[in-house]
Amino acid sequence: MTPTSEATGTEIHKGLDGVVVDSTAVSKVNPETNSLLYRGYPVQQLAAKCSFEEVAYLLWHGELPTTEQLAGFEKAERDGRGLERAVKATIDLLPITTHPMDVCRTAASVLGATHPQAEENSREANLKKSIDLLAAMPAVVAYDQRRRRGEEEVPARDDLGYSANFLYMTFGQEAAPEVVEAFNVSMILYAEHSFNASTFTARVITSTLADLHSAVTGAIGALKGALHGGANEAVMHTFEQITRDAKGADPAESAKSWLDAALAAKKKIMGFGHRVYKNGDSRVPTMKASLDKMVEHYNRPDLGHLYDALESAMGEAKNIKPNLDYPTGPLYHLMGFDTQMFTPLFVASRITGWTAHIMEQLEANSLIRPLSVYNGAPERDVP
Ligand code: ACO
Repeated sequence: MTPTSEATGTEIHKGLDGVVVDSTAVSKVNPETNSLLYRGYPVQQLAAKCSFEEVAYLLWHGELPTTEQLAGFEKAERDGRGLERAVKATIDLLPITTHPMDVCRTAASVLGATHPQAEENSREANLKKSIDLLAAMPAVVAYDQRRRRGEEEVPARDDLGYSANFLYMTFGQEAAPEVVEAFNVSMILYAEHSFNASTFTARVITSTLADLHSAVTGAIGALKGALHGGANEAVMHTFEQITRDAKGADPAESAKSWLDAALAAKKKIMGFGHRVYKNGDSRVPTMKASLDKMVEHYNRPDLGHLYDALESAMGEAKNIKPNLDYPTGPLYHLMGFDTQMFTPLFVASRITGWTAHIMEQLEANSLIRPLSVYNGAPERDVP
């Protein structure tokens, strides 16, 4: 039931739950049929048949690219790869105690401040800024993980696709094709999800006619929180905690007792539940299939068992299903990413969705400025 202000009788839509604030042609989330469409295409089909670059093009232009369009797009993305000097110098100033999401947020801001078209807000300028950001962010994430490990920057390669190059810059060697494929699927599934908190943040900032990088910088801040993108990192902490508590025994056996204790302590279990999907996140089966392949590739059945045990314990206890962050946490762990780097990987992908929404917002802009009911002290005179 919608809460009502006692004083005024006004309906209050806390968390904007159920409130429709605008229309969008970028994606459609249908919780009833458990489906997610990017520009009309089911995301499962895109993940099975397309590269992340094709999906980025689709989100920005509304149609999948022709062979020629894709070649031009890939060239622009490859030309924009690498760490800009100003970005590297700024990252080097940040201690390795800085959360990698703060590094990403700072890098996005520096990329905006130094962009030649910084103050231009035309669609053409915003498409250029979007592809530049898309191309630049993997180098930020890869370098940040490497510097934390005391390793040197690995320069980008322009003979590899987006996902293969991302993994190459992070680990300094080419990843196996099946690992590249699983990473590509995760990038596609993370790319877009309608009016989620970070996208809405980007649209709010854009609605003031601020520039694209300001909107993306704000969106990264919104994504950092554990109730949104930060959950993929939190899932891995849960797995680590259950493993520690098992004290050498099979962690899958301890998952239920860990969960019961956590729920009794009224804790939210990260990687479960969703504001929109109440019968399961449409992206999870596709991501879980890739996770299963990676569990086999890296020969880590223990992780697969723990995943299944916690999922079924949560199903029994609360009937709450996993969201996309549940399979991506262990997926990125198996690939060798440090846990704190998981949400920056989400950033690298979601740049596509955020910027598609920024451009859409500008096409039919209206300042986003909701109202509130005042419940503070009554009017009084300063003594
Ligand atoms: N663990 C335990 N209980 C939960 C969880 C959870 N993960 N999710 C929902 N619930 C319970 C709530 O406690 C509440 O119970 P109550 O009615 O007895 O109080 C009920 O389910 C409804 O939950 P809300 O939090 O009100 O649902 P809402 O739609 O606001 O929240 C949210 C959705 C924030 C995602 C929530 O499920 C959550 O906190 N999940 C954990 C964080 C997470 O995984 N976030 C990732 C989101 S997806 C993404 O960014 C890719």
